[in-house]
Amino acid sequence: MQQNKIIHGSSIEFTARLPKNFIDLIIADGPYAITTQPWDKISEIQQYNLRLIRLFSRVLKPGGTLYLFGKHNAIDFIDYSPYLKLNTRIIWYQPSRLAQGRNSYTDNYDVIFYFTKGKSTSFNLDDIRVPQLVELTQRLRCENVPSVTKGRFSKTKFNPLGKNPGNVWGDIKQLTYRSKELIDRALLNTIQKPEKLMTRLVKASSNPGDLVYDPFLGTGTSLKVAAELGRNILGCESDEKMLQIAFDRIRGVCPLLTTDYQKLLPWESIK
Ligand SMILES: C[S@@+](CC[C@H](N)C(=O)[O-])C[C@H]1O[C@@H](n2cnc3c(N)ncnc32)[C@H](O)[C@@H]1O
Repeated sequence: MQQNKIIHGSSIEFTARLPKNFIDLIIADGPYAITTQPWDKISEIQQYNLRLIRLFSRVLKPGGTLYLFGKHNAIDFIDYSPYLKLNTRIIWYQPSRLAQGRNSYTDNYDVIFYFTKGKSTSFNLDDIRVPQLVELTQRLRCENVPSVTKGRFSKTKFNPLGKNPGNVWGDIKQLTYRSKELIDRALLNTIQKPEKLMTRLVKASSNPGDLVYDPFLGTGTSLKVAAELGRNILGCESDEKMLQIAFDRIRGVCPLLTTDYQKLLPWESIK
């Protein structure tokens, strides 16, 4: 059974071996091609991402979701449209990132590209609503202000559960060295992501019992929260030390978790 399992090996090779139309949600926080980590030294990140998109589109179920992490230019000048539909770019804004830029503007956001295989079959808005910014009394006053919907005036409606988070997320902070969930200082910034960020992605685009796949596990944040939320999980990580960290972390919430080793093949060999 290919679930509740994390694999030590190359996710490129492993994904190519998975059955077609198999996965509900993929969270891919892999190379950005900006650091000096050996796994991040990708000379043509756009071509690399195109290859990933093609591989992931085969294994996603129709209506399934891919969240692909990267920098602003991660999918520039590539044609992903035969494989997946790009719904929006989520800007994960991190205002606290050190403002060290001298020659240009400091880069203080990451992009999470929100793709689906055709029309999405799950977007659970009510599970990810965020508080309205305006106070209740002001909100009620606003409800008397007409808004324009499809060219016609109607009443402004506020949902008591909160509003759609939109596609610029400034409400989720990057971890700091003081964060309780941080596993090791060396994993700050480039590796470990906040649980709150992964929770929003998992809740929005999967349901209990669905299969969530993370091909670039790192510390296993996405699958830890996915398992806590009752999803089935599958992951891959090429670095043995990281795999062990992820295993220990996810096993705490998913006692049935197993691990396996797949022979590493260079990704260029996968057509
Ligand atoms: C940015 S980190 C993921 C961080 C993770 N989201 C977390 O919260 O801890 C990317 C991870 O992908 C792994 N990786 C890079 N290329 C890989 C590949 N081809 N196959 C499997 N793992 C890979 C790296 O070793 C690294 O641990």
